[in-house]
Amino acid sequence: MLFEVTKYHQDLLKDFERLSAFFEVIDEVHLKNDNGFLIAYDLGCGSGVLSYFASKIVKKVIAIDKDSNIVKKAKCSLKNINVEVICEDILDHEFKDKADLIICETLDTGLIDEEQALIINHVLKYLKSNGTIIPSSVISIAEPISTSKQLDHVCYDDENNLSQENKISYKILGNFINFSEVDFYKKIDLKFKTKLIFKIDLDGILNSIKITTFTKLAEDLICGPTSMLNPPLLIPIKKEHVKKGDEISIFLEYELGGGIETIKTY
Ligand SMILES: C[S@@+](CC[C@H](N)C(=O)[O-])C[C@H]1O[C@@H](n2cnc3c(N)ncnc32)[C@H](O)[C@@H]1O
Repeated sequence: MLFEVTKYHQDLLKDFERLSAFFEVIDEVHLKNDNGFLIAYDLGCGSGVLSYFASKIVKKVIAIDKDSNIVKKAKCSLKNINVEVICEDILDHEFKDKADLIICETLDTGLIDEEQALIINHVLKYLKSNGTIIPSSVISIAEPISTSKQLDHVCYDDENNLSQENKISYKILGNFINFSEVDFYKKIDLKFKTKLIFKIDLDGILNSIKITTFTKLAEDLICGPTSMLNPPLLIPIKKEHVKKGDEISIFLEYELGGGIETIKTY
């Protein structure tokens, strides 16, 4: 299958690890379902690659994206198969039929900067009572780190976008804390606040925390960050000398879908 794409959607297509994880879970969902699916939504469909996977296991896929450029291309790529591509903001779309399967890949680290949580809250009422959502949840962990140069803003630890001289090096100073699991089968609270208590294992200067998000595609399939899925976030905090054995408490607050500007630590 050939997809017409923009540069960004091309990079998403080239991320084989991300794609194969989605392919595997769509295939698995199909094998577990005896009755067959009628309708799937692919929300934030981009190139339409996940719609294409889903088209093999359902009668009809409704694929939506708000980017008119990629929608034009997806309409072309998918024109002869059972996929209807719609150009609209999902948050404004009212669906006619309930879905057996909802695929939604508008993910980002902690669900802070993209609209995944808002989209899930909007579409939950359109999922049949025995319906399936892919992914099913995301899990986020935090680690205390020491970056070699002090960061002056929140940034992604994104190998694709950083040139060699801008690469951020850091040391992990203590344990990781599994601080959040967001379940896509339930209404999501968009305001998030937690107290992180790190146990320090290495002497050093604590000046940031690193957030890593794992995507639970199904009960037995978890996908870590890949080149195009959820690069870890590095969040600068007030710097502090720490020693092995210290316990450090940090409050972390943000708004899901509110943007990285909503992240606060104290
Ligand atoms: C990370 S890309 C994923 C594309 C595709 N699902 C894939 O896996 O290759 C997310 C897509 O969601 C779309 N998107 C984000 N928020 C949206 C919204 N509120 N309504 C419609 N599309 C949205 C973006 O335009 C982008 O194409």
